[in-house]
Amino acid sequence: MKTLSYRHTGVFDRFRLGAAYYPEHWSEKERQSDPERMREAGIDLVRLGEFAWDMLEPEDGVFDFDFFDQEIERLFHAGIEVIFCTPTAAPPRWMTRKHPEFLRRSGNGVFMQHGSRQHVCTTNPEFREYSKRITRQIAEHYKKHPAIIAFQTDNELHCHFTYCYCSSCQEEFQNYLREKYTSIDRLNKAWGTAFWAQSYHDFSDIELPREQAPAWPNPAAMLDMRRFHAAMATRFQHEQVEILRAANPGWIIFHNGLMAVVDYRSDFSRDLDLIGFDCYPGFVSDASRRPVRHAFTLDRARAIDGNFIIPEHQTSFGGQNGYVLATPEPGELRQLTFRSIAHGADSLIYFRWRSCRFGSEEYWGGILDHDNIPRRRFYEVSGISRELKALAPYLQRSEVRTEIGIAAADADADAVHAIYPMGFPSPDVVAEELHRAFLLRHYPVGLVHPEDDLSPLKLYILPHWELLRQEAVDNLADFVKNGGTLVIGARSGTRTADNQIISEPRPGILTHLAGATVEEYGKLIPDDPHSEHALMLSGQSVRADHFYEVLKLGTATAVACWNSRFLAGAPAIAVNQFGQGKVFYVGTYLTGALLETLVPLLADAAKLAPILPGLPDGLEVIERYSERGRLFFGLNNTDSSLKADMLPGCTLAGPADGLLPPYGVRVTVLPGNEN
Ligand code: GAL
Ligand code: ZN
Repeated sequence: MKTLSYRHTGVFDRFRLGAAYYPEHWSEKERQSDPERMREAGIDLVRLGEFAWDMLEPEDGVFDFDFFDQEIERLFHAGIEVIFCTPTAAPPRWMTRKHPEFLRRSGNGVFMQHGSRQHVCTTNPEFREYSKRITRQIAEHYKKHPAIIAFQTDNELHCHFTYCYCSSCQEEFQNYLREKYTSIDRLNKAWGTAFWAQSYHDFSDIELPREQAPAWPNPAAMLDMRRFHAAMATRFQHEQVEILRAANPGWIIFHNGLMAVVDYRSDFSRDLDLIGFDCYPGFVSDASRRPVRHAFTLDRARAIDGNFIIPEHQTSFGGQNGYVLATPEPGELRQLTFRSIAHGADSLIYFRWRSCRFGSEEYWGGILDHDNIPRRRFYEVSGISRELKALAPYLQRSEVRTEIGIAAADADADAVHAIYPMGFPSPDVVAEELHRAFLLRHYPVGLVHPEDDLSPLKLYILPHWELLRQEAVDNLADFVKNGGTLVIGARSGTRTADNQIISEPRPGILTHLAGATVEEYGKLIPDDPHSEHALMLSGQSVRADHFYEVLKLGTATAVACWNSRFLAGAPAIAVNQFGQGKVFYVGTYLTGALLETLVPLLADAAKLAPILPGLPDGLEVIERYSERGRLFFGLNNTDSSLKADMLPGCTLAGPADGLLPPYGVRVTVLPGNEN
């Protein structure tokens, strides 16, 4: 089976710009004019069929493709290619009437209802038969259709609902545990059931753990439940993928996400050709944080399996009845699109072609408004599509330059924090802070799983991962031995694979790398003056947050010591020579305040250089390179005009000289060997 890597470059033969299209929402008259209009806007790809199960199978076992056949013909005729979807996120009413037991059940026992989406449980074996049948029907019907180039499985698995307590989930959880542990004694040990008299005599005793029913559930049981639900999503998708591949091995298959409690660095993604990341930057309401947050989410998607497709990209005003995202201002959609591409998108589909006039998303804005009159967004998209033509050849099989890796994309690491957070920032929050610190300083930063290929990296940061596998530790050790610089944050390596606390001194399996152990630790209480602690780093007193550790040095030497009250003089940050490289162990949280002083020190130790010299503050610069050349993207993330003439090569997009306005983008290329 394929390996996953942030270094994978695309599977598409060219860059495509698309729109999510729901012809079932529109009149014949609108549908007739849509393909031509799409061409005008430069849209050459649509995604279809996502929630149309009731049209494709109007009655149990009765299939009807007439409507979509006609639409696909019309689109194909206009030169527009199609991604079709398995429509399983919206099972039809005849099914939920016949099988009310398919409905998902919440932790407090409430059954979900027909009338929205994702109401049916993907664990249920009979439902999975329906899912396979509709997938097979669609696959067989379209397997030779020249317009269809790719398939999307389902829609955002686990987007609205994760922890299901229906009877199928209950039964399958027991089966999952039986297979994993084979004996109940082993499970009792792994879960630590001696605590609060939880011991089980048989797998059939075990219930899916619930939050607060009445007190906190067993953390080991919770981790297994999350792994179980992730495994169910993988199995459900796999059944569809098998059918699609058998029908047409040429189809590119992906899923759209990314959601919690799906293990993307597992068979879930090994089953697919590439990752699909639904990109809605407007979810960040603070406009000043939006560009860096957008960049972070893209790099996080790339951490899973390299370059990706964006099956849904925000275009405009959008929300559901409880919220509305920030609306992209004039020029902002262009910048968002270019940022998405700069950080690894190999094709991009705007959500959606036109705003729908009804349903739970009647205010999700499309390229066209409700009244179907082309306005600013339509013309912006037309302009973007024209500009992309010049870039497209250089995007092909290009990799985003990454020399600094921040640990990300591990379902277990995220899970153990979510299960037992104690008020600490999540791995994601810390990774974002780190990513931002390097991005703003123009370093080629990315997010990389610790079991991935670390050879192109100079610096790797493992923020505060309580749980990590021996494979990761070995890989990190090789990286450092060969000259890499590693940073390990407080609390790393403190949990076992079963989600118990380790029995050795901290940082457990990382101790040989750190060259130090943790002698004592404590929580730093926010807003409590008594709890304020600082450390001395590079001659400056730097405030620490969340957590302190007192280090006991082995082979390591102190880089920083605490300088407050009872901690004064104790080592806080240590450095250890390991092979040809260095390991920094940081006995507190890697916060923005600490990074101000720490980043220059790390840059020095790891001999980091910015992507280009002389870049002004607020200009985000990203490089994508291939044999064909080096592409430089310069994005103005400030409210005033900036110079961007230091980007080398010839200009493919944006002004060739002069100032770059707010939201401005300039893309240049230095051609390589293949030209
Ligand atoms: C995505 C989802 C789409 C649509 C969109 C806007 O999460 O996949 O179907 O709901 O958000 O809310
Ligand atoms: Zn269920």
